[in-house]
Parts: sequence; C-alpha cells; structure tokens
Amino acid sequence: MGLMLPSPHAQHAAPRSPMRGPALPIGVAVTAIGILISIASAPIASSSAVEEMPEPVAVVQVPTVKVGATIAADPCADPTVLQSLSSGDDAATVAGFGGGENFRAAVVAGNAPCISLTDPARLWVVVNKSLPLNPPEYEPAGLDSVPLQMTTRSGLVRSDVAAAVGQMADAAAAAGAGRIGANNGYRSYGLQAANYDNFVRTLGQTDADAGSARPGHSEHQTGLALDVVACDAACGGLDGFGGTGQSEWVAANAWEFGFIVRYEDVGTPVTGYAPEPWHLRYVGVDLAAAYRSGGYRTLEEFFGLPAAPDYTH
Ligand code: DAL
Ligand code: ZN
Repeated sequence: MGLMLPSPHAQHAAPRSPMRGPALPIGVAVTAIGILISIASAPIASSSAVEEMPEPVAVVQVPTVKVGATIAADPCADPTVLQSLSSGDDAATVAGFGGGENFRAAVVAGNAPCISLTDPARLWVVVNKSLPLNPPEYEPAGLDSVPLQMTTRSGLVRSDVAAAVGQMADAAAAAGAGRIGANNGYRSYGLQAANYDNFVRTLGQTDADAGSARPGHSEHQTGLALDVVACDAACGGLDGFGGTGQSEWVAANAWEFGFIVRYEDVGTPVTGYAPEPWHLRYVGVDLAAAYRSGGYRTLEEFFGLPAAPDYTH
C-alpha cells in the first residue's frame, strides 16, 4: 500500500488557510479616505483669524456598496434541497444550495443543519483520525468494479465513483498522459484492520499511523476512495506513482471528474498522513470544482474543521 514517509522538507509548507484577515468594507475605506482628503485640503487658520472657522469641505462621494450573490437564508428549508437529500441525490443537493462554493460556505457558517459531514453515504463525508466512520463497520451500498487494470483484488468502489474514474482515465489517455490503473478501492473494516495490523507489526505504530488508517477510519471503507497507479507496459506501484506523467495529470485534472487528491504533502500537519499522490477521494464535480478554485489542500480546511493529525481516542 506504499507507506511513504514525508521528508522534513515536504512538511515545511503550511497548508493554505481559507481564513483571511478582516477586510475593510469599501464604504468605510472610502469614507476614511474622504475624511483625510478633507483634512488635508481644509484651509489652515492663520494666527490673525483664529476665531474664523474654515468652510466645511464636502467629502468624496461614498460609492454604493455592491452586495454579491447571497445564499439562501435557510437552504435546509428549501423543499428542493430536502427532496434531493431524502432521495440520496447528493449532486442535486449541492446544486440546490447554489453550487459547491455556496454549499461549503453554508456548512462552514453553520447554516446547513440538514448536512451531516459524518454521514458515510454522502459525497461530503469527512473521515479522518478524529472522525471515524459511524457505524465503525459501515458497508457502502452499490459497489461496482473499478473499470481500470487492477493490481490487487480490492477492485470495487461505489458505482458513481467507478463511472467517474473510468471517464478520468479515458481523458488522461486521450490527453497523452498515459494509462492509469488502480491498486485498491473499497476496503472493508476487516481488511483495513488486517492491513493496519500488518504495518504496525512490520513498521511500528508511528510509521503505520502515518500511512495507514486504523480500522473504521479509512476513506476506503466508504467506497468513495481509490488508489491509482501509472501503467505503461505494466502497472507500477503506489510509491512509484508520484512524479509520473499520470500523477501530474491527475493532480491537475482529477477535479474535473469529481476527485481530490486527499493527502497532499502540505496537508500532513492537518491529516496526519504522509503524502499520498495516488489516493483519490470522490466528492462529486461541484464540490471538487469549489475545492480546486478555492485553493484548498485538505478537506478539513474546505469544511472549516479542526486539523486531525492524531487519534483522539
Ligand atoms: N492510506 C490511507 C490513509 C488509508 O489507509 O485510508
Ligand atoms: Zn488510499
């Protein structure tokens, strides 16, 4: 499964934070400028006419503040959203919020009480060292074969993920980026436990925890994640994926097919995992596009969640 420990240099860069410093509202800024201009241009009282007050000076006209598109006050009261949620149509739910960025913003603002980030069947589920699967032995419905050359027997993912990764691999090949295969898709709780225990035995717990989720904590158990490999004459392994043409293409283009590279080098302080350029997590096209255009590097930052580099239980 490729336990690749990050070099110290790989961890130095701080992850991008979506938090920005407070911006001065434009009206306030312009008003302040206007006051400064009026002070600078006011006549200076001469000593011989100290009692004369200067004529008032008009400040610069304050422009009308333009308010951008605002999201619904309560998207969870929208019958269309509720219908999409109850039918399990996650893409339609995100669309009902007004798209990926509006969905994200509503969740972060606490304005989406109908959205659970811990529902393992949803495209927006967050699974990490602080957020285990609930229930721990969750099994996804609707698993299908990954339509790529597999290098292990763990060749299932959710059917929506299978369709998306097939389209992604076709696009990579058409773009001349080479053939993409897959190593692992869905892993049950039991398989994750066996893998993790094996790594602890062979590498020790610290290194095992940097490369393998403990059982009940892996995105692979949701059916939404898969590990891809570069296939030329033959398929390579996970550790050989970084630096290949396929890897570069995936990093730049996977979002168009609904995937994010979940464990980037800069994300290690947030996720607690060494970089895994091969581990793709399906979130759907709308959320992946918002993730990409917002410059996010971890799902935790995208949804305003705390970093989860260590297990808390
Ligand atoms: N390798 C990733 C972190 C997992 O085991 O889910
Ligand atoms: Zn993986």
